[in-house]
Amino acid sequence: MASPEIEIILDHYRNPRNFGDLPDATVRAKDSNPLCGDVVEMHLKIEGDRIVDVRFKGKGCAISQASASMLTERIKGMTIEEARRLGRDDVIDMLGVQLSPVRVKCATLSLKVLKLAIYTHLGMKLDEKEG
Ligand code: FES
Repeated sequence: MASPEIEIILDHYRNPRNFGDLPDATVRAKDSNPLCGDVVEMHLKIEGDRIVDVRFKGKGCAISQASASMLTERIKGMTIEEARRLGRDDVIDMLGVQLSPVRVKCATLSLKVLKLAIYTHLGMKLDEKEG
């Protein structure tokens, strides 16, 4: 029998939460793990300074896809600032298992994509102000 943490990871992998497209997303970001080519794409709908909705799509190992699924649940409703402060340890805590360095890269792929989306959003805001 797998540990409860592994069961939860596998459940997120098999039944990903917030999976798919978000047609009214205000920002989208995508990245891949160069070691294996696994992909995570995130769509955020940001209103004011809050993430009001999120979806993700991706292809890859159980850890990368489960962490993306868990992260979408975690960030829905957060402010941009709260989401920006999330770090590697938050993602590892969320998964609840010990990870080898290679697996840490799997776990943090979705975090990297989230940060990319946030910085893209902040960049767009800056452009709006300047333009
Ligand atoms: Fe590719 Fe995990 S093996 S992200």
